[in-house]
Amino acid sequence: MRIAIVGCGYVGLVAAACFAELGHDVICVDNDREKIAALNNGILPIHEVFLPELVQRHRGRRLAFSDDLSSAVRDGQVVFIAVGTPQSENGEADLSYFEGAVREIAHSLQGDPKIIVEKSTVPVYTSEWIRLILAREGAEASSFEVASNPEFLREGTAVADFLYPDRIVIGADSERTCEVMRHLYEPLTSGTYPRAASALPGPASAVSPPRLIITSTKSAELIKHASNAFLAMKLSFVNSVANVCESVGADIEQVCEAVGADSRIGPRFMKPGIGYGGSCFPKDLLAFGALARAHGCELRLLDEVARINDEQRQVFLKKVRNALWTLKGKRLAALGLAFKGGTDDIRESPAVHIVNSLHREGATVVAYDPAAMDRARQALPPAISFAQAAYDAAQGADALLILTDWEEFAALDLDRLRRTLRHPIVIDGRNLYSPHLMLAKGFTYASIGRAQVSPISPPSALPARGALTPGPRPAANP
Ligand code: UDX
Repeated sequence: MRIAIVGCGYVGLVAAACFAELGHDVICVDNDREKIAALNNGILPIHEVFLPELVQRHRGRRLAFSDDLSSAVRDGQVVFIAVGTPQSENGEADLSYFEGAVREIAHSLQGDPKIIVEKSTVPVYTSEWIRLILAREGAEASSFEVASNPEFLREGTAVADFLYPDRIVIGADSERTCEVMRHLYEPLTSGTYPRAASALPGPASAVSPPRLIITSTKSAELIKHASNAFLAMKLSFVNSVANVCESVGADIEQVCEAVGADSRIGPRFMKPGIGYGGSCFPKDLLAFGALARAHGCELRLLDEVARINDEQRQVFLKKVRNALWTLKGKRLAALGLAFKGGTDDIRESPAVHIVNSLHREGATVVAYDPAAMDRARQALPPAISFAQAAYDAAQGADALLILTDWEEFAALDLDRLRRTLRHPIVIDGRNLYSPHLMLAKGFTYASIGRAQVSPISPPSALPARGALTPGPRPAANP
């Protein structure tokens, strides 16, 4: 099929490359000419595994980049809108870019009827606004249909998430639109794509083709909000339980393993930490709350989820103070600046908030992140310095702080680290190590939801019963 995708941002680019991989002809458009010129030279604006391979495989064949929205829409059978929907001051999604795209599309509706698909995360009623704006701009009712096809991809694993999804949600209000949308995803739902010799590898968990779930457009719009809100709630719940674990001397890792073994709950998205961040959860939660309020419903639960998440950074900062007493003049090594491992994205990153707070409290922070340092340099005060490797950051530091779950941070040479630090103190906001191991290696080690261990603290500081985990956990995100 011929597809036009409006918006060469995160979602738009990944969707464009993946639809080309599924055999469709795709034109991805953006009004940022520099971005288009770079893409046409094979330069990608984001760091995402497998995206360079897919763009190289299909660019100039089934995948094109252009700043000419009109001709892309004219040639397309399906037009995806994947422009940004940032947060406005009142928490609602700012849909002005989205509306701008709809207006432009309205003037390019020629030839066969087009299916206009919302791919960006948008509030309920957006599909009705699309219809209204198109009509106001003079588009014939017979020249378009509107569908919603929310995207659930995660940064860092976006390509694999697109090609090996758990489910595909299509909100459409006519049988014809459903048919066309079904056809678009047929290589995935039939299982043909994963069997192809050239298919990109999927996660081990992708054993059967994804479910295709057809809903009304309004339900599809709400599914995206509800999914993200539920996941954020799961994390805030786990972080709250982690704090109780610490107070009573239990171990959150053991608790989560057993709680997650209940198939009604599930083991994924159960890693305690310093709180969620990124461009989706914080923004989507606020937008969902604002949307509900605007329709007379209070989602107070979501306010609490966000409050717990903010507080989790304070929980971590308290651990740093507990371990070091005063912070003024102390040298701290911060490992990780991105909002999670595997990405260079620092938007709403709890690591960045923590580094800023430590700096404000007078500590000297030396940070290292395998991918996010260029972006972080622009966001952090000039006094923060950056090292080229984890051990360089740790050199002479009073303590090492682990803020992001990059795999390399879970595989540090602990003997070398102990020799490099001024004091062997590690405060781990992602539970990448076992307290037993850290204690055996001579570290004072604090983590989330587990007792602090230290070779020089009194025995009463250790948990009453043997509640420590036997080995380090993998760093990969669930
Ligand atoms: C999320 C949703 O997962 C995705 O479906 C949606 O389309 C966009 O938002 P993303 O923002 O890329 O994706 O990140 P995700 O991997 O979901 O992690 C979100 C945050 O939660 C990160 O800060 C991460 O560190 C944190 N997290 C995640 C945990 O603290 N523990 C976990 O077990 C999982």
